[in-house]
Amino acid sequence: MKVDGKHFRSIWRERDGWSVGAIDQRRLPHEFVIARLTSCEDAAVAIRDMLVRGAPLIGATAAYGMALAMREDASDAGLKRAYDTLVVARPTAINLKWALDEMRATLAPIDPLERAEAAYARADEIVEQDVEINRGIAGNGLKLIEAIAARKPGETVNVLTHCNAGWLATVDWGTATAPIYLAHERGLKVHVWVDETRPRNQGASLTAWELGHHGVPHTVIPDNTGGHLMQHGMVDLAIVGTDRVAANGDVCNKIGTYLKALAAHDNGVPFYVALPSPTIDFAVHDGIRDIPIEQRSGTEVTDMTGRTADGRLETVRIVPENSPVANYAFDVTPARLVTGLITERGVLKPDRASLAAAFPERIVAA
Ligand code: MRU
Repeated sequence: MKVDGKHFRSIWRERDGWSVGAIDQRRLPHEFVIARLTSCEDAAVAIRDMLVRGAPLIGATAAYGMALAMREDASDAGLKRAYDTLVVARPTAINLKWALDEMRATLAPIDPLERAEAAYARADEIVEQDVEINRGIAGNGLKLIEAIAARKPGETVNVLTHCNAGWLATVDWGTATAPIYLAHERGLKVHVWVDETRPRNQGASLTAWELGHHGVPHTVIPDNTGGHLMQHGMVDLAIVGTDRVAANGDVCNKIGTYLKALAAHDNGVPFYVALPSPTIDFAVHDGIRDIPIEQRSGTEVTDMTGRTADGRLETVRIVPENSPVANYAFDVTPARLVTGLITERGVLKPDRASLAAAFPERIVAA
């Protein structure tokens, strides 16, 4: 997507052909900084420290991390070490394991001398595939927005989203934002309520930044505002992303998603989840019971960083020194609260039969 008129993806191979460039998302919206990853360890740290984040981008970064590892040591031991290092970088987004399994399936059977080249080729494919998938999500989600627009001619369609499931969270387009960008491009009047998404504020920092650069009308709201807006008919539909969808249709996403789904259910607001097929985990049968929920540092809750009036970045503490804090990064929304899953192969019911019918090849892999 465009940043100041220039086309960017969130991750790419640099001109040297082997190192990897990525937007440092920790610095947005204050600074646009490009990071260069030159080793498997760089890729693992980038994922762990959230220089890159968002389930599909985590997967893409891990794929390039494997390619970087194969330059360093393409032996069987090197392959195993790279896999083991990257797979634990973050626990919840299944796209990480999916991408690593894809890489390992390509690399394990071939001669170590051929592994580096094959790894870059497969990582490039994973990256291109993500863009194609998101185009599919855009087209399928657009129909939902068009249907609402047709019911209120001339009026704006109001979409609520949580966290950042935008192009920064993927390679390009985003998942939840893909239908919104396409609707905007097609001239539909669309406005986005952007949950700030405490504690890391991916909505306020990243989604608002993206939408602003793309000229999509939006309003940043404190996380607790969604229910009020829904009660007053100010949200036509919610579209969120996800880090893992269980076989039974339960959806894991950024903490707070569940509360939005409850409010949507109570107010009859359609609640959609946009996902690429690598986010489905057929090995998990009950999302609430079995999806591992990442817990992150308490400093994300106690401290806030922002830009001062004179342009300096400053971090301040907002919690009393001795108060304990908890920082669960994700929650699981039960399938019964989800209106539909927007995938590259259509909008599906959130249940095992629909997921299995649309993506039979993923069941075999699980
Ligand atoms: O902790 P993050 O920023 O990686 O969490 C991101 C999300 O929760 C996104 O909604 C999800 O990964 C889907 S991204 C298309």
